[in-house]
Amino acid sequence: MEKHNFVNIQGLDREQLLYLIEMAQEFEKHPNRELLKGKVIATLFYEPSTRTRLSFETAANRLGARVIGFTDAKVSSVSKGETLKDTILMVSNYADAIVMRHYIEGAAQYASEVAPVPIINAGDGAHQHPSQCLLDLYTINQTQGTLENLNIYLVGDLKYGRTVHSLLMAMRHFNPTFHFIAPKELAMPEEYKVYCREHNIHFEEHEDFTPEVIANADIIYMTRVQKERFSDLMEYERVKNVYILRRDMLSLARPNMKILHPLPRVNEIAYDVDDSPHAYYIEQARNGLFAREAIFCHCLGISMEEVKNDKTI
Ligand code: CP
Repeated sequence: MEKHNFVNIQGLDREQLLYLIEMAQEFEKHPNRELLKGKVIATLFYEPSTRTRLSFETAANRLGARVIGFTDAKVSSVSKGETLKDTILMVSNYADAIVMRHYIEGAAQYASEVAPVPIINAGDGAHQHPSQCLLDLYTINQTQGTLENLNIYLVGDLKYGRTVHSLLMAMRHFNPTFHFIAPKELAMPEEYKVYCREHNIHFEEHEDFTPEVIANADIIYMTRVQKERFSDLMEYERVKNVYILRRDMLSLARPNMKILHPLPRVNEIAYDVDDSPHAYYIEQARNGLFAREAIFCHCLGISMEEVKNDKTI
């Protein structure tokens, strides 16, 4: 069986992304299969998670695999000083693939270089969140009927928000126009603006977050201000509520416009938005299951043909 890591999104080309989206569509039709029967998946979470861990574990269970792992490194031998390398080598003895979330940027890449089994990055610091990116692409395609030529507004913490970094890179294949709306302390880092320029991704920056500014949006992608990444909590207090999306701000929105958010939210989307026809963040999180089933197949060498011809459904 061929081994593929899933560590960063820029390692996937346009055809591979569309292939994974099509595979996820197959899993949305039939999530329960036995394509991973006999396999063991490890989930190693060095940082908290609700959606990512539980949807990966659900995906593994729905595909017939079993799951081992930890949700807090303090209950593992990491607390006795075991290195990431040794932990990864040990878990590789037991599991066929490792899903890991780590607070250090580049930790998943490092793990993929030492592990004999596929590594799936479930988020590394403020760097990348490629499985979230795949489910975001899936959701954008599902709501807009295309990934091409869309106006995408990224709002909130664009400095530490790893999901927006991954989305920016993946969308380079689909001619987007990005709009960045962030407090200056949390602006999109220069390295990602350089990336946009190098890949001919058009972007604009706005200070205002008003109905007029967002009137042309196809997607508004809200993000949480990432308190856990601030060294100065006074600075967090200053910026945490700068941009809040309220229902009365949607008066000029296009009919097709959908609001996404990787979640969890804190204050950045008011609860009166939830029953707006533009709200789509709960469905977005549901799509994580299908996207992650496709990621397991990609990493463990299960082809589209095998998925489509699966006799276990
Ligand atoms: N979107 C996301 O990564 O959510 P969790 O932190 O709950 O996994």
